[in-house]
Amino acid sequence: MIDLKNVSKTYDEAEGPVFDGFSEHIDRGEFILVTGKSGSGKSTLIRMLLKETDPDSGEIVVDGKELSKITKAKIPSYRRGIGVVFQDFRLFEDYTIYGNLEVVMSVTGGSMRDSEQRITNMLKLMGIDRLHKRYPKELSGGEKQKVCMARALINSPSVLLADEPTGNLDPKSSAEIFRLLEIAHRQGTTVVMATHDIATADRLATTCRRIDLDLMAKRV
Ligand SMILES: Nc1ncnc2c1ncn2[C@@H]1O[C@H](COP(=O)(O)OP(=O)(O)OP(=O)(O)O)[C@@H](O)[C@H]1O
Ligand SMILES: [Mg+2]
Repeated sequence: MIDLKNVSKTYDEAEGPVFDGFSEHIDRGEFILVTGKSGSGKSTLIRMLLKETDPDSGEIVVDGKELSKITKAKIPSYRRGIGVVFQDFRLFEDYTIYGNLEVVMSVTGGSMRDSEQRITNMLKLMGIDRLHKRYPKELSGGEKQKVCMARALINSPSVLLADEPTGNLDPKSSAEIFRLLEIAHRQGTTVVMATHDIATADRLATTCRRIDLDLMAKRV
């Protein structure tokens, strides 16, 4: 599902490489926790998988697509096939919750009624259908992150990338988001989640595989 082969990335020569010959294989349907101290490269890894940034060398294949071969014009369509959740939500503030889902929905040829149904079902699955007419600024952090989960999953992506999705949330909201990530995972989505929350990582360890970036050999 995801293959990283000999991936190297340096932002700043003086700082040294963030990745130096990093290789990893992730199977379809795995739930991966990417851990490591601040600055270890968790967000960089997520951003490379999303093709927000490119490695200096090496190869990254996601769901059969080699990322270096995707042209600039094709990047939006590549990203539509991937669900993403960030710590800072990144919702469209001028749209309602319903609208936030509507704008990212791929036009798949279904009727208007079908798409309404899909959005309503997704909001129900995330437990936030009562909020559909509100704007992001009218929601709590935990509620916002549930909207982000709904938005990430509305196009039934094969991969869900999450960069510290619970970083701004209290323990109760964090637990709810983890539960939603597990629902996505159980439905067959490959989940890659970056987190520095080791306690939660350990609690989830039975269903998850951990990739610890602190353990990779990279610095000279
Ligand atoms: N756009 C950038 N330009 C220059 N350096 C960068 C850039 N993005 C990240 N870095 C550097 O690369 C290293 C890895 O950063 P990254 O954000 O991937 O770490 P992280 O593991 O996500 O950390 P955190 O836990 O604090 O979120 C850091 O040393 C950071 O300063
Ligand atoms: Mg980060």
